[in-house]
Amino acid sequence: MRVLLVAPPGAGKGTQGALIAAHFDVPHIATGDLLREHVARRTKLGIAVQEHLDRGELVPDDVVLDIVQTAFVTAKERGGGYVLDGMPRNMTQARALYQVGRSLDMTANVALHLKADDDELIRRLLARAALEHRADDTEDVIRRRLALYHDVTHPIVQWYGTRGILVTVDAMRPVEHVAQQILTALEAMRPLVGLVPEHARQSVDLTGLGTAFGEP
Ligand code: AP5
Repeated sequence: MRVLLVAPPGAGKGTQGALIAAHFDVPHIATGDLLREHVARRTKLGIAVQEHLDRGELVPDDVVLDIVQTAFVTAKERGGGYVLDGMPRNMTQARALYQVGRSLDMTANVALHLKADDDELIRRLLARAALEHRADDTEDVIRRRLALYHDVTHPIVQWYGTRGILVTVDAMRPVEHVAQQILTALEAMRPLVGLVPEHARQSVDLTGLGTAFGEP
């Protein structure tokens, strides 16, 4: 299974990405974690990108693309599945990622969009700030990250919609409920992955499902 996550800060990319990766036994490639590791180790790359992370701005496309390409090569050696969390962040990255995927025969089967309101996202990230002290979890920087998401990242969602690989879930509910819905949808799709031709693929919007089954 090859899944990429497109979602605003705090929607649960890291949380759900880890659960999906464990479920399908594939690597969880999280660009933010990989970049923070470089910062923590004070590598040349880490020193170069630290200010971007601290300010909540995107690091240059070629830097992150390089990291992901390397991770994809390793993932291919492990069978070719992956959960990609944190990329793409803009249309340039989306197109470049598609080319990398094609060259390795590893394009995504599913683009998973986690949908949540800004107020809830800010609440979650401020709650995390109290516990984990991530440099970009201050209110100002959280708001900048959210604005950037809405301006340059969210438009990609529609692009995946037209490619027929978009699955949208309501990420406002508790972690376990969101995870259950994602894993159920992915398991239902698993036998079809790779069999449905591109022109026949259909996107799926599951955001109304909780209410339909009596959830508040
Ligand atoms: P990144 O690490 O990707 O950060 P982000 O997008 O801001 O997302 P977060 O990690 O804050 O949130 P998340 O959606 O993963 O949610 P999580 O599961 O952690 O990127 C950081 C920076 O790196 C970027 O700003 C940029 O500078 C750079 N970068 C990364 N990728 C890049 C790229 N491709 N191009 C350029 N630059 C790039 O959950 C958040 C909190 O909410 C946790 O405390 C969690 O426990 C809680 N939570 C999760 N789900 C729920 C739920 N359902 N209910 C209640 N609480 C929940």
